[in-house]
Amino acid sequence: MIKLFVFLLFITFAYFMFDTHKEVKSTPTYVGMNKCASCHDIQLHSLENTLHPKIFRPVTSAEEILGDFLTPNPLVTFKKEDITYVIGSKWEQVYMRKIKGDYYVFPAKWMVTTQQWVPYKVHSWQKTPASIKCNGCHTTGYSKETHDFNEFGVRCEACHGPASQHVAHQKMNSYAECKICHTKHKTFDNDIIVSQKSAVCGQCHSRGTTTVLASNGKMTLFNFPLEYLPGHDLNKSFVPNSVKTDKKGVNWWGNGLSKNRHQEFADFSFSKHSKSLINLKTKHNPHGGKKDASCLKCHSEDYRSAKEGHRPTIESAKLGITCITCHEPHGIDKNIRSKKSINAKCAECHIFDIGKNQKHFPCPSSKASCVDCHMPLIGKTGGTYTIRSHAFKIVPPQATKKYNMPSSCQNGACHQDKSVEWAIKAYNDFYKDSNKKTLADVILENK
Ligand code: HEC
Ligand code: HEC
Ligand code: HEC
Ligand code: HEC
Ligand code: HEC
Ligand code: HEC
Ligand code: HEC
Ligand code: HEC
Ligand code: HEC
Repeated sequence: MIKLFVFLLFITFAYFMFDTHKEVKSTPTYVGMNKCASCHDIQLHSLENTLHPKIFRPVTSAEEILGDFLTPNPLVTFKKEDITYVIGSKWEQVYMRKIKGDYYVFPAKWMVTTQQWVPYKVHSWQKTPASIKCNGCHTTGYSKETHDFNEFGVRCEACHGPASQHVAHQKMNSYAECKICHTKHKTFDNDIIVSQKSAVCGQCHSRGTTTVLASNGKMTLFNFPLEYLPGHDLNKSFVPNSVKTDKKGVNWWGNGLSKNRHQEFADFSFSKHSKSLINLKTKHNPHGGKKDASCLKCHSEDYRSAKEGHRPTIESAKLGITCITCHEPHGIDKNIRSKKSINAKCAECHIFDIGKNQKHFPCPSSKASCVDCHMPLIGKTGGTYTIRSHAFKIVPPQATKKYNMPSSCQNGACHQDKSVEWAIKAYNDFYKDSNKKTLADVILENK
């Protein structure tokens, strides 16, 4: 009798003690990456080795600050010790502090690529708190109301949505102490989001604004989509920036291609890759052979990532090629870092027909990879051209003349010793049979 009483007491105690019960709410909340560790160590270890979770973080050791504070520089009006947060490590690094609950940048940033200081928002830093201009894309679980967030960096729930319910359900099904009361093993299908859509990445790899008008008439301009939930398209309230609105030509080249960072999503929308499923469904088949589900191997991401036995048909497939067709979402980019592995990636689907009508390119393939020409380095960050175009359009040297931008022939380490005139002539001589309109003739625009 006493034993039963103690047992019941324990159980009641346990029921109220386990904080999991507090998490079980009808609307899921953000719980943080540490809560996933016990069950998903593979994804976690893989993600930890990428830049995503590290982009924005409190300074824990002086080595994290890459800027040169030893050589005196008039631009550097602050001390290394005053820096409490850093953004970035690969191309450039921005320094921050917190004042009255808001994050503010210091007025100089360090270009990692070119090893230089440049002035940064010297006069406007007070008017542009990072809380509304930056943090939506460098954190996880950003709150529209408080402008605060749940975690530094891009972590699990940025791409999978708030996971409190998933964690509670999974624990209930697998932990011995929960099984004391929970004997039924229910399956929960919709407690976590898995989406292969490009918009999951596009919520951050985009440039634009969300305007919020408060009841007191105060207008706040956020530089990112608010409350984006993975699986959806980008929020209607987010107005993407484009060449049309960029009067000073800061972020876009005259032909509509990106010249700055975090614009991959917009560029990608110009690529036929993003239309590969619609085109498969509606256009003439150029390959010959029967039009069936096997066509989806190269034309659809939901087909590619589905398990055997669960693959969609041409009718039920929803997505064409998306960001994760090339970028592994947890181990970003290990697979496409070298020339050889990048070419192999393209060759998964582009089994050529190079040279059907004419030779494809004059350069030795040991020197020029597919992406050197089709994803030229035309975006600037870190003080030089480090960002690849995601429009997959050849930028002919004629466009260099017209828009003063790097071309497919002269970018990265390619043909920098030659003049633009040389490149134009070489291009016209080699591709003389091409009757296509080029990017020097057309302007790409977001719809
Ligand atoms: C107690 C263990 C446990 C914890 C903690 C846990 N998960 Fe899971 N998760 C699972 C199991 C088991 C599955 C497989 C469920 C299934 O296939 O029905 C799963 C599946 C998933 C899936 C894939 C779902 C699908 O439909 O393919 C995602 C995404 C996911 N978890 C994310 C997370 C994230 C993010 C966290 C941390 C916030 C987390 N999980 C915490 C056990 C857990
Ligand atoms: C709409 C989302 C978004 C907003 C807003 C945003 N960023 Fe970023 N930021 C990114 C993405 C995505 C990258 C990675 C580069 C890319 O995608 O081309 C990045 C990269 C960076 C980098 C370079 C990181 C490195 O490792 O070199 C710095 C520095 C940076 N951002 C600072 C800022 C600052 C400061 C602000 C606010 C004034 C800001 N960002 C606002 C999305 C954003
Ligand atoms: C940058 C976005 C992103 C982040 C961050 C991210 N995931 Fe994912 N995850 C995805 C996408 C996209 C898929 C679907 C992949 C597919 O279908 O090929 C996925 C799939 C999964 C799956 C299903 C099995 C698999 O590996 O394909 C699990 C489980 C999972 N994620 C857990 C996690 C956990 C845990 C974290 C944090 C440690 C995390 N994810 C962080 C985008 C992300
Ligand atoms: C002392 C008994 C007891 C223990 C131990 C216990 N629970 Fe519960 N739990 C309950 C009861 C009772 C409910 C309410 C059931 C209902 O409303 O259908 C509940 C509800 C839940 C729910 C909501 C169920 C749903 O349908 O969404 C989750 C999730 C849950 N518990 C998770 C856990 C987890 C995780 C543990 C272990 C950490 C745990 N529980 C341990 C008694 C217990
Ligand atoms: C919550 C915002 C956010 C989401 C969601 C997001 N990214 Fe990023 N991404 C960033 C930021 C910020 C960086 C810059 C990291 C840095 O430099 O430290 C970045 C960097 C990258 C890089 C460059 C990494 C490198 O090592 O050079 C790639 C590639 C990338 N993201 C692809 C993706 C893909 C693919 C997805 C979707 C599956 C995605 N991102 C989702 C914000 C995001
Ligand atoms: C091995 C990969 C692969 C398979 C399988 C494949 N395709 Fe394609 N498809 C491609 C590539 C790569 C292109 C772009 C070719 C180019 O521009 O040189 C393409 C282009 C197309 C286009 C041209 C769209 C346009 O913009 O004009 C259509 C339509 C198409 N494929 C339909 C199909 C059909 C129907 C099937 C099945 C019979 C199929 N594809 C199977 C790789 C594939
Ligand atoms: C057809 C393949 C492919 C697709 C699809 C693709 N990328 Fe990339 N991406 C690449 C390659 C190749 C690189 C260069 C990798 C390198 O040099 O390390 C790259 C580089 C990047 C980088 C690093 C900075 C830059 O822009 O050079 C980011 C961020 C990125 N991609 C984001 C995205 C996003 C977001 C999407 C979807 C909107 C996407 N990518 C779709 C192939 C692709
Ligand atoms: C999953 C298969 C797949 C992969 C991987 C892939 N492509 Fe494609 N690519 C296609 C298909 C399919 C099309 C045709 C889409 C259409 O016209 O509907 C295409 C179209 C193109 C085009 C014409 C684009 C345009 O907008 O005019 C270029 C150029 C191209 N791919 C280059 C590349 C390069 C470079 C890589 C490697 C970084 C690559 N592709 C990786 C399947 C793929
Ligand atoms: C030296 C530069 C160069 C390299 C390297 C290169 N291409 Fe191209 N590619 C071009 C040019 C230029 C065109 C356009 C020719 C024309 O207008 O007729 C083209 C055309 C294409 C097309 C047709 C695009 C369309 O709009 O119909 C595809 C697909 C393509 N290339 C894929 C690839 C792939 C995959 C690789 C790697 C195996 C590759 N290319 C390597 C320069 C290059």
